[in-house]
Amino acid sequence: MNVFGVDIGGTGIKGAPVDLDRGDLVEPRYKVLTPHPATPEAVADGVVEVVRHFGWSGPVGITFPGVVTGSVIRTAANVDKAWIGTDAGQVLGDRLNLRATVLNDADAAGVAEMAFGAGRGRKGAVFLLTFGTGIGSALFIDGKLVPNTELGHLELNGHEAEKHASTKAKEDEELSWHHWAHRVQKYLAHVEMLFSPELFIIGGGVSRKADKFLPLIEGIRAEIVPAELQNNAGIVGAAMAAAGR
Ligand code: BGC
Repeated sequence: MNVFGVDIGGTGIKGAPVDLDRGDLVEPRYKVLTPHPATPEAVADGVVEVVRHFGWSGPVGITFPGVVTGSVIRTAANVDKAWIGTDAGQVLGDRLNLRATVLNDADAAGVAEMAFGAGRGRKGAVFLLTFGTGIGSALFIDGKLVPNTELGHLELNGHEAEKHASTKAKEDEELSWHHWAHRVQKYLAHVEMLFSPELFIIGGGVSRKADKFLPLIEGIRAEIVPAELQNNAGIVGAAMAAAGR
């Protein structure tokens, strides 16, 4: 069964039809730049462009980089604040004239990794953490998602963690892999102190470069592995959510 997935990120809005049996994209994804300011109207235009590119009609799953309850956006740390209180499922569904399911971006990526990637069959507490414009978190207990955990906003040494250890912080402050890995290590140690997970899955675009920083991280008891679906996890997880999987 194929369902369309869209991933709304800080830099791009990307999407593709997803084969839910294989957990993979049916065609190469199509991407437009995230508009600035990323208001609901401007982002909706981008989502419509991505979905229309494929001539898709059918259910659509969409990720959002903030807290989503039902399909209402509750926080918007890295996109326009006008999203807060917006029923994104309704607004985007009306614009697309299709049924739209909306969920948090890290939760979507986590759902995909647990089904088809690095979390397959893993029990106990598992975290997927995405490092990008912000830090996203998805917590699974025996494979079941605890939604909207938002651990990118934990305070770490007087800093909001995502301002200090995201890949945006690495780029903005021109940190070396070594320096950035040290910050990520401190962040993981903090999350480990709070939750004692079995496994950390490291996602986001930087998961492609895992060999540059994962070997530099020490002193964490939990296993740490890169995401296997890499940057397609959000698209796949969005499509799964739209199909109720
Ligand atoms: C948001 C999260 C999101 C993460 C990654 C954070 O700023 O609060 O909801 O998952 O960024 O995009």
